[in-house]
Amino acid sequence: MKILLIGNGAREHIMAEKLTKSPRCNELFVFASGMNPGIKKLASIYHVGNYNNPDEVRVFAEQNKPDFAIIGPENPIAEGVVDELDKIGIPSASPTKALGQLESSKSFTRELLAKYNIPGNPDFKTFTSDEGMLEYAKSLGDFVVKADGLHGGKGVLVQGDHFDTAEEGIESAIKFIASDGHVVIEEKFVGQEFSLMSFADGENVIDMPPIQDHKRAFEGDTGPNTGGMGTYNYPGNLPFLTDKDLVDAHEITVQTAKALKKELGKPYKGIMYGGFIATKNGVKLIEYNARLGDPEAMNALVLLETDFVDINKAIIDGNLNELDIKFSNKATVCKYAVPEGYPTNPVKGVEFTIGELPDEVKKYFASVNEVDGRLIIGGSRTIAFVGIGDTIEEAEKLAQIGVEAVDGPVFYRKDIGTQELIQKRIDMMKELRNDVMA
Ligand code: GLY
Repeated sequence: MKILLIGNGAREHIMAEKLTKSPRCNELFVFASGMNPGIKKLASIYHVGNYNNPDEVRVFAEQNKPDFAIIGPENPIAEGVVDELDKIGIPSASPTKALGQLESSKSFTRELLAKYNIPGNPDFKTFTSDEGMLEYAKSLGDFVVKADGLHGGKGVLVQGDHFDTAEEGIESAIKFIASDGHVVIEEKFVGQEFSLMSFADGENVIDMPPIQDHKRAFEGDTGPNTGGMGTYNYPGNLPFLTDKDLVDAHEITVQTAKALKKELGKPYKGIMYGGFIATKNGVKLIEYNARLGDPEAMNALVLLETDFVDINKAIIDGNLNELDIKFSNKATVCKYAVPEGYPTNPVKGVEFTIGELPDEVKKYFASVNEVDGRLIIGGSRTIAFVGIGDTIEEAEKLAQIGVEAVDGPVFYRKDIGTQELIQKRIDMMKELRNDVMA
């Protein structure tokens, strides 16, 4: 098969690796927005252009005639690339623009869950003007302001983290109304966040292992928010979650997939990535994404034993139930090396090198250029290293060997995947759950 992959981050590097490992993949065509030396090596055609422009992607696809497409990042989905490819008979294992509202419109998803009585929603309201907004926000106690559309990770503002007083939060909400027409104001949840990504074909929902991301730039979960500094999973379940938490999160995604089909008349095909939070009152939904997470894709796909091309074909054909999708029951830790100054004022254009690595440490390029064989920092997250082990300790050590092997102006979070940090999450959940029992 000829496969078109859109995107050029570390997430797409591992997607490219898994696709090209399949005996069913004859050629991989990549439509990228910039260089990625890891993906380029795997691609038979590596094209750099504007992947957020559906016409450009369609012209590339018309020339190369892939059997199907798969999209890594959220923006091409929100811009309607899948719809455009569909017009020329190329199916995608990613959602259309309308179904992609699951991620691209926060109000759409909140209203959908409310309309179909799906559990997990906070107390929320969608506003198109500031009328009544301050009173409502204050009535929630601490609250969250969510821009309706995609804002590159900067559209969610949490009281206590990003703003202090209700008035400050409302000021930002008014700015989001000016840009998006809507804004969502919702109750703030307290608990432990986790990512549960699922393959979805419109009928069947198959979960990947639960994973925890680390959004803050610096150790101890301090500093500005980033695209994600690193992630980990445990064999089985995360140690601060109960089996019921996982069942409940799965059920929310199953019900949401059904609701999407009823609401829009078409099956959702692709990834449903639930950003969930375990609270003292059970599992709640923070948001959905319509694609694989980055870094979460690294944890999930290194463990995936089933042929990734088969899975994507089954998503398109609506027969995921016919596959026995398996992940190895191991721990993984992914750590990103990012440029000094990231995310606010990152170094870019500077060379870096990577020392010798043991075979067990896997590396995935992100924002990296290659000039005359030299690796150059691009400015966003640079390179992800993944360790796999029977225990989290083993996996963490391997990921750490990876980030330490980078010589250049980068930094990383040493604490991701360490027992000390994970124990804090376990203690927090214990305390929250004990409060309810008391
Ligand atoms: N891990 C965060 C994201 O992919 O959006």
